[in-house]
Amino acid sequence: MDASKIAELYPSVPKEDVDYLCTSVTSADVAGLLGFAKEGSDRAVDLAKRLCAALDGSTVLTFPDTGYGLPAICAWKGIDTMTAADAVGFLSSLPETKCAELADGFVAGENAMYAAEIIESVAYLGHTLEDRPGFVPDRVLRALGLPFVDETIPGAVAFLGGLDDPEAVKKMSRDFQGKGMVGLASGEYPAQFVAAGAKMDLERRFYDVGCFTGTVHAINFAVRAALTFGNISPGDREGLDAYLTKRPKVIVIQNGPISRIDAALAFAALMHHASIVTDCDLPEVPGALKVCKDPLDMIQVGIEERGIIVKLQPIELPVAYAPSFEGEVVRKPDTYVEAGGSRSPSFEVLLSKSESEVEDGKVTLIGPEIDEMKEGSLTPLGLIVEVYGPNMQEDLESVLERRFHSSINFAEGVWHNGQRDNNWIRISKVSKEAGFKMADLGKILVHKIKEEFGKVVTRVQATVITDPEELERRRPEAEKAYAIRDERMKGLVDDKVDLFYTCAMCQSFAPGHICIIAPERIGLCGAINWLDSKAGFELDPRGPNQPVDKGYVIDGPKGEWSGVNEAIRKETMGRLDRMCMYSLMDAPMTSCGCFEVIVAMTVDMQAVILVDRDFTGMTPVGMKFSSLAGSIGGGRQTPGFMGIGKRYITSKRFIEAEGGIARIAWMPKHLKEIVGPEFKKRCEEIGMPDLLDKIADETVTEDAEGLMAYMAEVGHPALTMDPLL
Ligand code: SF4
Ligand code: NI
Repeated sequence: MDASKIAELYPSVPKEDVDYLCTSVTSADVAGLLGFAKEGSDRAVDLAKRLCAALDGSTVLTFPDTGYGLPAICAWKGIDTMTAADAVGFLSSLPETKCAELADGFVAGENAMYAAEIIESVAYLGHTLEDRPGFVPDRVLRALGLPFVDETIPGAVAFLGGLDDPEAVKKMSRDFQGKGMVGLASGEYPAQFVAAGAKMDLERRFYDVGCFTGTVHAINFAVRAALTFGNISPGDREGLDAYLTKRPKVIVIQNGPISRIDAALAFAALMHHASIVTDCDLPEVPGALKVCKDPLDMIQVGIEERGIIVKLQPIELPVAYAPSFEGEVVRKPDTYVEAGGSRSPSFEVLLSKSESEVEDGKVTLIGPEIDEMKEGSLTPLGLIVEVYGPNMQEDLESVLERRFHSSINFAEGVWHNGQRDNNWIRISKVSKEAGFKMADLGKILVHKIKEEFGKVVTRVQATVITDPEELERRRPEAEKAYAIRDERMKGLVDDKVDLFYTCAMCQSFAPGHICIIAPERIGLCGAINWLDSKAGFELDPRGPNQPVDKGYVIDGPKGEWSGVNEAIRKETMGRLDRMCMYSLMDAPMTSCGCFEVIVAMTVDMQAVILVDRDFTGMTPVGMKFSSLAGSIGGGRQTPGFMGIGKRYITSKRFIEAEGGIARIAWMPKHLKEIVGPEFKKRCEEIGMPDLLDKIADETVTEDAEGLMAYMAEVGHPALTMDPLL
């Protein structure tokens, strides 16, 4: 490891400690490995103690943007806040390490993990995630909730050490990303991945956790998944262990010499049920440590060792294709050709057809291919996917069509935005150079629609149109389909349907939680609406989405139905008795971990605030999103607090029982912008066109008194309502 880099990142760590902890070997027997880990662990604990003793004792140790203090210590020891003085006492109380048998390695590993977290938190003092990456913030983890539970992310891979082989490193990154796995890299690896052309950032699900003791951030990532989605109480060691046995499934790929600190932290990884694959000559431990000398085979070996099931089917394309590229943006100067964005004619549509009209797997390009287009030019673009399936229903068309967005974005250097006839696509110069063709857009769509919806569609074909005349000839068909759908959507309100749907997808992570999805209330992750859940049921009749017969109305404004209550009782095995669909105060919907927004009652109980997970600042209820989130997850009903999907904010049914949107007194400025036009429309509908101006944000105030004063000043409507409690 580069000593000067460590010196720069850890200015308060003496050089002797760095040298000692980074001393490495490439082979060891069992006794040697245990001894090495023990030495690393003891020294790390000693170092952490000295660092904390040098601080003002009242200094609070934590990481930026987390509600879990020092997450591994919080999870395993149940300690949620720790000062430097506490840390000295805590470190002194750790059990003595030995190195006689394998079990001793776990003690060393656990001690080292706590010490590493403390050393890292000291290094973070006075820093933010912008100027010191390494720690993966809670909001990033929470956003992974749904892909984790539906297993589009089958597991995580942590790269430890380094591999001086750019070709192999590049192939490894494509390999795990193509499988949809989350990546974490420490040591020399981050720099080597970047040098090999891989992109590492929070949006791409590939995280640089740093070097030296930074490896511990890979561990506290796994631990927080259990705390966030599993409703594991801090300090519940047994529950945590049982949870980690199942998920998240983590493999560690270790290359090159292994240092004292890495050896110790490797045991900590084992304690979290990771499987380690190494190229060092170490003793193999069945189910835990495996030696593999071929770097290109290591990930596969790890996947098999840890029992990871990869759902994604590989697709042959000239560019990389993986969920991790979904958030990648192709900027104008990097664009070879673009379509739509209201600058050239374009549309995309999915249509169901009769059996004889669809030839499965066929991709047709009508018009010029990308090689015939000039760099920096605009092209017309029509994307038509036609499907047939005996179980296909017309109202599923929009559900399938919405997948175009992520499907196209998964391709590296290809960017998609919008939908229908206001879509926008860019293909980068690099991807064109790599051989990407317009026809590949069709190939991607056929592949993904079949992969995800193979149970309802048995035949899929795609037509890519770049010829302007052909595009206009086919356009009316698309416009007609949009119009029919819009008409149908208008009628889609809670009172007009007989069935709601459950979504139990998150139960694999949050066992007590159940979402009830209605036309006017989207799932709290924001990703599953009523049509999606209906499609989910059609796709898998015994799966996580089950129809709920509403039964009779018990309380209209609260949204309480007999059938919903019955479903809740059944799904929670009697733990919960009832649920009101439109109430925050009376039997509100439970939350798992992946809500987009939290609704919280204000201190004076007169109003509510909204805060979304991208807002890291303080809110007027005295808590940040991260701490609020910690108090509502895990399938509990907590009157006054609730996790919701963004789209529910502008629903007519938004906390209808408590007065609806007129109760909202505060929300972050950027959330106002996101819900903007829809929200304004709702304000007009309820006869309060100026409501949005009466809602404060962080530029107005961040505390309770400020909010009360502002509400009084603007005459906020919630002040004239009954208190919430
Ligand atoms: Fe999880 Fe609810 Fe979203 Fe289903 S709808 S994935 S249960 S948050
Ligand atoms: Ni969830």
